Amino acid sequence: MIRVDDAALRPTTLAEYVGQNALKEKLAVYLEAARQRREALDHVLLYGPPGLGKTTLAYIIAAELNVNIRVTSGPAIEKPGDLAAILTNALEDGDVLFIDEIHRLGRVAEEHLYPAMEDYKIDIVLGQGPAARTIRLDLPRFTLVGATTRPGLITGPLRSRFGIIEHLEYYRDDELAEGASRDARLLGVALAPEAALEIGRRARGTMRIAKRLLRRVRDFAAVAGEQHIDLPRARFALDELGIDPGGLERRDRTILRTLVETFAGGPVGLDTLATALGEDRATLEEVHEPFLIQRGLLQRTARGRVATDRAYAHLGLPAPTGVGLFDDGG
Ligand code: ADE
Repeated sequence: MIRVDDAALRPTTLAEYVGQNALKEKLAVYLEAARQRREALDHVLLYGPPGLGKTTLAYIIAAELNVNIRVTSGPAIEKPGDLAAILTNALEDGDVLFIDEIHRLGRVAEEHLYPAMEDYKIDIVLGQGPAARTIRLDLPRFTLVGATTRPGLITGPLRSRFGIIEHLEYYRDDELAEGASRDARLLGVALAPEAALEIGRRARGTMRIAKRLLRRVRDFAAVAGEQHIDLPRARFALDELGIDPGGLERRDRTILRTLVETFAGGPVGLDTLATALGEDRATLEEVHEPFLIQRGLLQRTARGRVATDRAYAHLGLPAPTGVGLFDDGG
């Protein structure tokens, strides 16, 4: 049995890629101009939260240009030699080199990337010590596509070498529904439009989550012997998964409940909250909080984390009488 994996469902043209319309319009122009001039596309930096389709876009860029793509990531390039090996062995004129998590590239490797991006040249050091010498190799005219969730960690010199810098936005519910419907079609699943929209509503603005939820809902339908996924069936499966109508998972609700019940809604320090949850600080701060903050359920204030009125409403609890709420500590 061959599993239809995520990569197989990846769109290969801009036209198939759902949403991100402003970005798509600009990219279509840049792609067309590069094709007309028969030149490599300028280097592209894509940034935005995880799961919005940065890698997918990199593949689309290569497919639209009809060139090969080489894929690596910042952490995989440890030594400058790793970068030199990729650039000198694997690339042909016009090819795309995709570096995911480019903010995690080491400093030395990054410095070797500058002349590669700018002049299509790379310096290679041969030998060691006093006998060491440097040779400069010509590289094909490649396009670097870098992706990052942490644009603030990209150094100025690296950032300035990208000709195209684009941000990916969270998707609207209907766009996520369209993405889920597209995958359903490719998987041969009959997904009702209302069911697709329900998946979209619970997918936190994130295409990767919409695609994952579709697969899990499909599992529930298959085990129940159902060919057709309608709204009640989608709702049932999503409820069983512990994903509520606002897209919160059990862990998110536990965080809000702990904040409300153990700490009277806050403010409470991140470390204290993390300890109470048996969670490490970074996971709480980087994995769980962004979504809760984005949805206005939690606030970061100078005195600590605070549950908002909306958090109380979400938990079905009466909001306290305003004390400590929306207090920015100033
Ligand atoms: N896969 C990842 N992102 C996508 C998007 N925006 N549209 C369709 N499929 C995708």
